[in-house]
Amino acid sequence: MSRQTRAIIHPQALQHNFARLQPSLPSRAIAVIKADAYGHGAVTVATALSDLCTCFAVAICDEVRPLRDAGITQPVVVLEGPHDMQDCQMAKASNSILVVHNTVQLDWLTTLPASQRPEVWLKVDSGMHRLGFSVDDAIALLASHEWLTEQPCVLVTHFACADEPDNPFNTAQFDAFNRIAAATNLPVCVANSAATLTHPDQWGAWCRLGIGMYGASPLANKTAAQLELQAAMTLQAEVIGLHNVKKGESVGYSQSWKAPRDSVIATVGIGYADGYPRHCPTGTPVVIRGHRAPLVGRVSMDMITIDVTDIPDVALQDTVELWGRQLPVDEVAQCAGTISYELTTRVSTRVPRTVEQAARDNP
Ligand SMILES: Cc1ncc(COP(=O)(O)O)c(C=O)c1O
Repeated sequence: MSRQTRAIIHPQALQHNFARLQPSLPSRAIAVIKADAYGHGAVTVATALSDLCTCFAVAICDEVRPLRDAGITQPVVVLEGPHDMQDCQMAKASNSILVVHNTVQLDWLTTLPASQRPEVWLKVDSGMHRLGFSVDDAIALLASHEWLTEQPCVLVTHFACADEPDNPFNTAQFDAFNRIAAATNLPVCVANSAATLTHPDQWGAWCRLGIGMYGASPLANKTAAQLELQAAMTLQAEVIGLHNVKKGESVGYSQSWKAPRDSVIATVGIGYADGYPRHCPTGTPVVIRGHRAPLVGRVSMDMITIDVTDIPDVALQDTVELWGRQLPVDEVAQCAGTISYELTTRVSTRVPRTVEQAARDNP
C-alpha cells in the first residue's frame, strides 16, 4: 500500500467561501489562484469556481498556460505583469490581463502594435512601496500614454495592513489611492480578502479574493470559524510506528523531547520535505481519532512524532490530520511562527492532492 500522506481539496468549501466573501455591493470578485492556488492546485480551484467566478488572477504569465490547457476560459489577471517582451506578445492570445507596474513594462507594451496589445491595468503604489507607480507618476503616465485609457484600464493597488482593520495606514493608503481614482474616474481593483470583509461597500469594481477563499482567516482578530469560512485543504498522514517510551527517555533528533511520564508515541508519515513546517514546536496539535494530540520532539524530513498516551486504541495506519476540517491551518501556522499562506503553498509535490467528490444525493 502506498504512503497515505495527502492533501484533500474540498471544492464545496471553495465555493462556499467564494460566495461568503463576494460582496453583495457592486464589486466583482477575482479569485486569486497564484502559486498553484496557494498550494491547492490552480486547475482544481479554477474548475471548482468556474460557474461562480468571471475572472482569475495569478502572479506571473507562466501560470496562465496550465489553466488554458485545462480548458479554463475566463480572463486571467497577471498581478506582476510581464517579465519580458515575449510575455507581452503572448498575453492577448491567452486572454491575459497584464498589470503594469514599471516603465520597462510600459515601454514593451507601448511598442506593441495596438492590435496585438492585451488588456492592461495600471498598478498604483498607494503606500506599500512594493510595486506600482506613485499616484502622481500614474496620473502623468495616463496622460502621456493615451492608449492606456483607450482600452479597459483598471487602477490596481494593494494594502499593506488590511488584516488589521483599525490600522490607520489603511485609511492613508485609501486616501492616496482615491486621489487618482477621483482624478481619472477609472474603475478600480483594490481589496484583498481582508479588505473585502471589512469594507465591502468601499472598493468599487473589482476585489481580489485569496486566503479567505481557501478557508483561512484573513483578519488578525477573527478566526475562520467566526467568519464562517471552511477549510479548503485537509492535510493528512498515517501512523507508521508506535512506541512505548519510558519516563525520561528521549524521542527524535537532538533528544529535544524527553518523556515526562511513561508514554505512547506514534510516528506519523509526514515531515518537512512534505511541507510540514520544521519550526512546529513540541505541543503543536494534530488530530487523531477525533482527539487532539501534541507533536513531541523535532520534525524530521519524512516523519513527526506525536504523544498519544491519552488517546485510546491508537493503531498503525490510523489517519492523522495535520490541518484542515478538524484543525484550523491558522492555528498550526501560529505554532510554527508563520501564516497560513506559507503552510498551504509549501505542501510539496511529494504530497498528492486528491479532490473530494461531491456527496451524492440519496436516491
Ligand atoms: C496583489 C495581491 N492581490 C491580492 C492578493 C490576495 O490576498 P489575500 O490572499 O490576502 O486575499 C494577494 C496575495 O498575496 C496579492 O499579492
